[in-house]
Amino acid sequence: MNPERERELLARLEAPDAQRPGPLGARSMKNAASAYSDPERFQRELERLFRGRPLLVGLSAECARPGDFLSANLGGVPVFVVRQGDGSLRGFVNACRHRAATLVEGCGHAGRAIVCPYHGWTYQLDGALRARPGAEPGFDDVDRAGLSLHPIAVGEGYGLVFARAAAGPPVTADAALCGAERELAHHDLASWVPIETRTFEVPINWKLVIDTFTEPYHIPWLHKASIAPHYYFDRWIFDAFGPHGRFIGLRKTLAAELEKPPGEPRALLPHATTQYLLLPNAVLVHQIDHFELWRLQPLAVDRTRVSTSVIAPRAPVSERERAYFVKNLDVLLGVTNSEDFPMMARIQQNLASGAVPEVVYGKMEPALVHFHESVAAALAES
Ligand code: FES
Ligand SMILES: [Fe+2]
Repeated sequence: MNPERERELLARLEAPDAQRPGPLGARSMKNAASAYSDPERFQRELERLFRGRPLLVGLSAECARPGDFLSANLGGVPVFVVRQGDGSLRGFVNACRHRAATLVEGCGHAGRAIVCPYHGWTYQLDGALRARPGAEPGFDDVDRAGLSLHPIAVGEGYGLVFARAAAGPPVTADAALCGAERELAHHDLASWVPIETRTFEVPINWKLVIDTFTEPYHIPWLHKASIAPHYYFDRWIFDAFGPHGRFIGLRKTLAAELEKPPGEPRALLPHATTQYLLLPNAVLVHQIDHFELWRLQPLAVDRTRVSTSVIAPRAPVSERERAYFVKNLDVLLGVTNSEDFPMMARIQQNLASGAVPEVVYGKMEPALVHFHESVAAALAES
């Protein structure tokens, strides 16, 4: 976020008419319990949101060198992106053209070719089938040229990699970010360094993972033994970027910053947890001196795979510095995995019980309302 933007957001907090709690959104909203529990709706979400739109699959830094790859799952479609010799990125369905074996797992380095682990079919980084080792005569009536990997659309910018499973126009980071790029550009994320990623599964609908990040209202209650002393629950900053949002949670250290005499330089970000909610699958969080990236993959209407990464501004120069960033991840997941997600698991059960018709998102939960309105709008698109 550039300094002018930071000043503008600080000014909003000091406006004489600044509301507490607030600033409130335009309206409250009710959402049917079935939005979280109906398998048919879940399938539509996979199709419209997770396959039909560009998703944030990861960071440029996770696939920086030629031959580096990064795999993902886009609404049930396994894909990977791979860095080409000329520095560009290409994306493919992550399945061999022989008998559909998975080609690569996680992220890593393929060298100059991608070799299928089942029978060794070998693909160039551009997806062309180069060889069927030891077996050419056994397939000489099947043309190699027609057995390139199936391509998918990929776009990259601001250190972020986007891909879309379904056919459609080219993917660009600018179009995918819907204006959030104007703030993210300032961080130059392409030069940052991923330190560690942890992946786990939670027994909740994917939207409950996002809901977790959208309001501070729960902090004094659910987090009274952990982060409640440090965060305001009744003041925040929220802005929409198309279907995405940027929600800023505010630390109580902000009060001293706002009391500085006029003319003294002031900063927002040291007192902020800035969350870019990138519909549908990612939350990119800036915290003082590092980023966290949450990526989620819906597995079933009530099951979601979650990956959490911590990203540092440069490669750690010592084990101690590395341990500092890992500790941040420990603390973060300590709170979400012992406080937020267990609560969400019980909510999932309640919503699936049939005894709860709907939930209410208040005007004091504007990021939550915007998220669910955006999901509903995407499902309504023809
Ligand atoms: S499935 Fe890949 S080589 Fe057989
Ligand atoms: Fe929380």
